[in-house]
Amino acid sequence: MTGTDGGPGGSPVERPALGDGGSMGPMDVDLSTRYLGLSLASPIVAAASPLTGDASGLRRLGEAGVGAVVLPSLFEEDVLAGGTTFAAGLEQTREVFHEAREYFPDLVAEKDVADRYLANLERAKGVLEAPVIVSLNATSSGGWTRYARLLGRAGADALELNVYFVAADPNRSAAGIEAEQLELVSVVCRDAGVAVAVKLSPFYTAMANFASAVARAGAKGLVLFNRFYQPDVDLDNMTVLPRLSLSRSADLGLPLRWTAILRPLLPEDVSLGLTSGVHTGADIAKAIAVGADVVMMASELLAEGPGRVEVLESELREWLAEHGYRSLSDLRGSVSAASVGNPEAFERANYTKTLRSLEFHGR
Ligand SMILES: Cc1cc2nc3c(=O)[nH]c(=O)nc-3n(C[C@H](O)[C@H](O)[C@H](O)COP(=O)(O)O)c2cc1C
Repeated sequence: MTGTDGGPGGSPVERPALGDGGSMGPMDVDLSTRYLGLSLASPIVAAASPLTGDASGLRRLGEAGVGAVVLPSLFEEDVLAGGTTFAAGLEQTREVFHEAREYFPDLVAEKDVADRYLANLERAKGVLEAPVIVSLNATSSGGWTRYARLLGRAGADALELNVYFVAADPNRSAAGIEAEQLELVSVVCRDAGVAVAVKLSPFYTAMANFASAVARAGAKGLVLFNRFYQPDVDLDNMTVLPRLSLSRSADLGLPLRWTAILRPLLPEDVSLGLTSGVHTGADIAKAIAVGADVVMMASELLAEGPGRVEVLESELREWLAEHGYRSLSDLRGSVSAASVGNPEAFERANYTKTLRSLEFHGR
């Protein structure tokens, strides 16, 4: 596996000295971490994907030692399109889900979108000891945000809010869109009753400014970055093809860079989850080194199965032991923009150097 032998741009990073002459083995390494105020046994979180919506997938993730899971999103569009009778009734009872089931047995039978989501949550809590994070996917604040409160009360350990949005309307300004998203974040954080992380896309003009504003609006964590669905064109039929390709380790650069830049800028109690392009134990070590508290994985686990969590944890343990780290906290942030000798390696200064470093050996 590829080690982290120097900071980006070549600045060497100091490693902690082994106190006992280097006799530490992989099993002595502590992989525990904290995320959104929760204690996790492992930094590997199963990101929202069909795997975490499947009962057997959840059970196998638990057996493999996953740190936490994020359930597939409850989408604003689906909630608004589907009936919400049960959820509305549930809200009026001011009882948690389990108790409310006894009050509303008939309504439980009415399987609308929110009901199914609550059932998924209950199932996940039943099979996993690790924390279960629910996910809301939305763009506007409105009546539907009551689901944040509902899911918080129904036993979710935390909530992830995905503000996926394609800014394709020429009449809407960046400032207007950001203000609307911040309003949504603050309403959800106020109502959820559990810690909220906001999953962002990388497409903000002033990312550091917006990320800080999201934290001020009440988010206890940021998840960097959402992976965009990119439609393709079917030339045979001249139609648009929905396409969601799995990531590769090469996609890791963008979230690595921004985690490194944002870690020192955000308050310490704001957690960072890194998602997009984490596939190997080395990828996880890099994510932690730039300041992430957890990694959130979908593509690798969908392709290789939930058992991959166990393999990645042992790869990570081996790397940490070999390089003298007793715990993740020894490694965390050691290559963030504040820790490396040349923080500009993450910014523009290295851009020209990097472009010129590639030579053309053409025919
Ligand atoms: C098939 C599939 C379904 C996904 N569904 C959701 C979802 O419901 N909500 C969400 O926030 N992200 C969703 N994602 C994004 C993942 O949670 C993850 O952030 C992204 O794929 C990047 O991680 P990766 O590189 O490990 O795949 C989905 C990804 C895939 C591949």
